[in-house]
Amino acid sequence: MKKTLYELAATCQKTPRPPVWMMRQAGRYLPEYRQIREKYSFIEMIKTPKIAAEITLQPIHRFGMDAAILFSDILVTAEALGCHVDIIEKKGPIITPPIRTRADVDTLNTVNTTKKLTYVLEAIDLLTPQVTALNIPLIGFAGAPFTVASYMIEGQSSPDLKLTKQLMTQDPSTLHALLEKLTNVTIDYLNAQLKAGVKALQIFDTWAGHLSYTDFETYSSTYIQKIIQNLNNPNNCPITVFAKNTTTFAPLLTTTGANVISVDWQTNLKTLKNIVPQNMAIQGNLDPYLLFAPDDILTQRVDAILNTMQDRPGYIFNLGHGLMPDINPEKVALVVNRVQAFHH
Ligand code: CP3
Repeated sequence: MKKTLYELAATCQKTPRPPVWMMRQAGRYLPEYRQIREKYSFIEMIKTPKIAAEITLQPIHRFGMDAAILFSDILVTAEALGCHVDIIEKKGPIITPPIRTRADVDTLNTVNTTKKLTYVLEAIDLLTPQVTALNIPLIGFAGAPFTVASYMIEGQSSPDLKLTKQLMTQDPSTLHALLEKLTNVTIDYLNAQLKAGVKALQIFDTWAGHLSYTDFETYSSTYIQKIIQNLNNPNNCPITVFAKNTTTFAPLLTTTGANVISVDWQTNLKTLKNIVPQNMAIQGNLDPYLLFAPDDILTQRVDAILNTMQDRPGYIFNLGHGLMPDINPEKVALVVNRVQAFHH
């Protein structure tokens, strides 16, 4: 089958223009999302395949992005291991009970975890014919073990990952045991997504940016590498790894075996494109807060990125992190249209 623009760019082949999509492109900034959200909790929405599929396509129908990302959450792997996950408006995720000791880690059940995530595979089934007709890929995803572990340890969003870092120095073998369990669940889960038909995968390591370089290697990139090595990926679906603090971590991220590195807005793309091997694609890195800027400023900043990356095959336009709930949808349209009107 013909490769989509996204798949060509992700494998560093020449494209007439970069593909564009946005992290958190489905969500509360869209009135059509809020309409469904009024009737269901977030967890109910991701667990109902028909609703998850509908929400996945909402931004595609409205803006025509070049890729759809499955509507779900990174914390489903924590739930599959036996934690209770709640998402509270304005507070974020709450994980009960938190996992802080070796005994806590030992209670996590790694048997048949993918069975508990069947609802995701059913959403992929519903979406496959629709994205195929639109000639865009469906991107599957999972959280990186370190980021999911940090939620399980903290029990909620944390500004500094203090408890996680305490466990790291006071009882590193417990942290490794937790990361090992998460790695195994994530391998099974991503393999199930590939088998169900996603065309690409992204691994989110949002909170790795809190780590030092050595700790990132010991507690994060090594586990991401193990996941990628254990994927059963006969069609070579491209794998993207997203982390914050990519400027610092780029050399380690390039050794994970990922095909695409997704970078935060602090990263200097001019420097990065010389560090990242030519056979690895780059995704990013517009500061999502620029979507609050006046149109002329936003346009200038989008163009600056496009111009910087235009001589490099293997570039996917995206944000440096996810869209916020109070973004004006018209700004999203402006960015998508600007990228799609660009020609090398
Ligand atoms: O990108 C997409 O459109 C796909 C769906 C997606 C969501 N979460 C939907 C969501 C993806 C890929 C994620 C990943 C995710 N989830 C990450 C990694 C990426 C990132 O943004 O850093 C993280 C750290 C989480 C954990 C998480 N889930 C948080 C911190 C929150 C609360 C955030 C908030 O704004 O309230 C969630 C809930 C969540 N995940 C929402 C959505 C649309 C909001 C749910 C709602 O109340 O309607």
